[in-house]
Amino acid sequence: MTPTDPATPQTCPVSAGTAPATDTTDPLVVDLPLRRPGVPFPPPHYADYRNHEGLVLSHLPDGRRVWLVTRHEDVRTVLTSPEISSNPAHEGFPNIGATGGVPTQDQIPGWFVGMDSPEHDRFRKALIPEFTVRRVRAMRPAIERTVDAQLDAMLAAGDTADLVADFALPIPSLVISSLLGVPPADREFFESRTRVLVSLRTATDDDRMAATKDLLRYIGRLVEIKQKWGGDDLITRLLATGSIAPHELSGVLMLLLIAGHETTANNIALGVVTLLTNPQWIGDERAVEETLRFHSVADIVSLRVAVEDVEIAGQLIKAGEGIIPLVAAANHDENVFACPHAFDPSRSARSHVAFGYGVHQCLGQNLVRVEMEVAYRKLFERIPNLQLDVPLDRLGIKYDGVLYGLHQLPVRW
Ligand code: HEM
Repeated sequence: MTPTDPATPQTCPVSAGTAPATDTTDPLVVDLPLRRPGVPFPPPHYADYRNHEGLVLSHLPDGRRVWLVTRHEDVRTVLTSPEISSNPAHEGFPNIGATGGVPTQDQIPGWFVGMDSPEHDRFRKALIPEFTVRRVRAMRPAIERTVDAQLDAMLAAGDTADLVADFALPIPSLVISSLLGVPPADREFFESRTRVLVSLRTATDDDRMAATKDLLRYIGRLVEIKQKWGGDDLITRLLATGSIAPHELSGVLMLLLIAGHETTANNIALGVVTLLTNPQWIGDERAVEETLRFHSVADIVSLRVAVEDVEIAGQLIKAGEGIIPLVAAANHDENVFACPHAFDPSRSARSHVAFGYGVHQCLGQNLVRVEMEVAYRKLFERIPNLQLDVPLDRLGIKYDGVLYGLHQLPVRW
């Protein structure tokens, strides 16, 4: 076990890095933290960025400049500033991919994560009842059955498995399918299309366009079926409220399908590795929140653009300049989390920003917590002798996508 292993806590105190010379009129210019093969996560230079006065400047693949925000306090400020927008239609919105970009309302109506208040509020209000603690609690028995069924299949198949493909991915995927009323057999279809949309380097514009069209066509058909036949599912309930037009449902449902499985899957898989390397925390429910903070899989998800000149941490950001709040950097800010690189479920991790912050804070967070709690509890109860089947430093880590995670997780028992 070395400090460069992705799921390995480093001992405290950890070097905060070497603070570069500070000069707010001449910001530090750094690489965009997208591809980091062989580098630990979060990248150690995040500590340098946090220590740098003001903000850090980077360049997007298209050559435009973008501000990186790394301190916990500054990330929260960015995510709640009225001068800063989530709308990708605004000039200067950061496009972090080598290709493509974030969809606009013209392309996908109802893609509400890309809207600002007050437009955003109508969608959020319609969806909140679907994700309350109470509603999610009612889903728990079904989530337990889903987790048990995956474990039954894994155990029946032998004494090894790929915990990503056989466990971490199917669970959130099946849960979101059942919530939306998507037939379980279609899971492979939307997983494959989502994979294209969240990969930054390997997918071309044509691939993204084709995946988006496939998903929209599929969702359109699904909505038609629900309009005709109804069902005990989110789509039918949303249609009944009348607050979201059927054509806007395409963006809403696509967002839920995309947001709802890769994120959780990455978190479940990385958390299993961390628990295997820190077995004293197996069975402790507090591990869920700390895993979310520790791994911060959605590091570069909350993209923003300034729509008016605004000052953040003493740095002037001009209207039209892009901003990337790096939530993994904020969640490892030593001013908020003592010994941030140590995996310590006994700490109070609730103030983490792994789910973002402000009006766009993750709508699925209650669901995620239950999925993770059930997944860890049942996995370690039913397979107490679970072990990694590959050395830690050989794990296939996803460093080049929107989300941080694992490609595979070979295990045996
Ligand atoms: C570990 C798992 C997850 C993580 C780390 C995560 C992270 C995030 C983050 C960082 C945001 C904020 C985006 C922004 O500020 O622009 C967000 C928004 C959102 N998430 Fe999640 N998410 C997870 C799972 C889920 C699940 C399971 C669902 C749904 C079933 C979901 C649905 C959403 C939706 C709909 C939004 C947009 C909310 C809005 O704009 O009002 N997420 N998520």
